[in-house]
Amino acid sequence: MHRTERSPDTIARWRSYWSANPTGDHRCDSSEFFRRQADELRVLFGAKRPARVLEVGCGSGLLFPFLGLDPAGYRGIDFSPSAIAAFRAAYPDLDLVCCEGSSYCDPRSTYDLIFSNGVVEHFDAHMLDDHVRCARAMLADDGLFVCANVLWKAHLASLVLAALRAGQLGVALNRMRIALLGDPSLGRWQTQGEFISLARRHDFAVEFFGAMAYLGRFHAVMRPR
Ligand SMILES: C[S@@+](CC[C@H](N)C(=O)[O-])C[C@H]1O[C@@H](n2cnc3c(N)ncnc32)[C@H](O)[C@@H]1O
Repeated sequence: MHRTERSPDTIARWRSYWSANPTGDHRCDSSEFFRRQADELRVLFGAKRPARVLEVGCGSGLLFPFLGLDPAGYRGIDFSPSAIAAFRAAYPDLDLVCCEGSSYCDPRSTYDLIFSNGVVEHFDAHMLDDHVRCARAMLADDGLFVCANVLWKAHLASLVLAALRAGQLGVALNRMRIALLGDPSLGRWQTQGEFISLARRHDFAVEFFGAMAYLGRFHAVMRPR
């Protein structure tokens, strides 16, 4: 699958959005929430502490202090210069790189864990395909590739109804616009079928888990086959 001409527009639009919002869009802005969110990710990562870790779309590192990762083996990448600057200010010794994430591929590096949290909704289908291919090339044979908190398309209709019932008309209208027009301006809603196809194409086995901290999202956990 090759990139369309629209992928650079998608990248430019989201880079501009995230450069203006470097500290992320978590639904709560408290250490308690970040800890709970990190705990959820740690369950996905499994009992064995990964030595070499690549985080794609690391943002300003809000979750980093709660993830229990070895700083010496961690690399975080994000295309938002302001997010990377904020992360670097808090952790000057970490290996942080400002670059586009879906096309990031360093065949000289091997990782035990490659993950993202709330990021792949900003990738079009071609970018996501690239991302999975790159992850496969950089992952150790017994490594883990986690796309966490993917927008779950199957829940879109119930989330529209929930917003209507809660009197959040603006939110409901936005969600309906996405559902009816496929408008990706709030991120792309994805299906597990898309991940099953990607996993098959790039030689991964995939498992799915419903998200706890965010309703209407799922986690895709992949292992090399
Ligand atoms: C919702 S925030 C999540 C940040 C962080 N993962 C967390 O959980 O706190 C999404 C992040 O993904 C980054 N991002 C989105 N698309 C990207 C891309 N194509 N390449 C690199 N970073 C990207 C944004 O800059 C932003 O920092």
